[in-house]
Amino acid sequence: MTPDDMKKMAAQAALDYVGTGTVIGIGTGSTANHFIDSLAAIKHRIDGTVASSEASAKRLKAHGIPVLELNSVDELSLYIDGADESNRHLHLIKGGGGALTREKIVAAASRKFICIADESKLVDILGTFPLPVEVIPMARSYVARELVKHGGQPVYREGFTTDNGNIILDVHNMQIMEPVRLEEELNNIAGVVTVGIFARRPADVLLLGTRDGVKTLT
Ligand code: A5P
Repeated sequence: MTPDDMKKMAAQAALDYVGTGTVIGIGTGSTANHFIDSLAAIKHRIDGTVASSEASAKRLKAHGIPVLELNSVDELSLYIDGADESNRHLHLIKGGGGALTREKIVAAASRKFICIADESKLVDILGTFPLPVEVIPMARSYVARELVKHGGQPVYREGFTTDNGNIILDVHNMQIMEPVRLEEELNNIAGVVTVGIFARRPADVLLLGTRDGVKTLT
């Protein structure tokens, strides 16, 4: 079984959480893409979706699934998205695809956050995956220096612009022992738009595709 098969299994399992007549938030990435493709089969059941990226919006529309503006809906019942890493508290690293800011907004606006991932994403300590940080372009060098003071090695993601017109610094060699505290500290650096630690608002459920089936962690 490949990691992609496990992503597909987790995505399929998330369909059980989709309530009739609801508007749901949709994440970004290869696992979220599997979820979008599965959602197409039950699209008549939901009122619509809010997408966390232009790429996901495009895929949803290609399936004929309605995509709404976040400003035009109240609280979302559900947010479904992948992750780059999760610890056992369901604190996450996200942003490998560069969509972290809109992902964090849609997650914040949702009552329940279901994370879908293959088993390789579950780790003891966050930080082996380089931590993405979205930064206002003019602040790039300043923010990079501040990130070094926090013990990381920021690398500019060359040739990449986020949906919001900003740049990404991928921070290597961070051992994230206190995810909530580090998220708050890095968020406070002037010029940082969003840090890819999702700990202040962790996932509520992690559906993990494994060789032995889908495991549910809460
Ligand atoms: C997008 O910016 C990320 O936060 C994704 O959620 C993450 O990269 C998911 O990765 P997969 O492609 O493995 O689902």
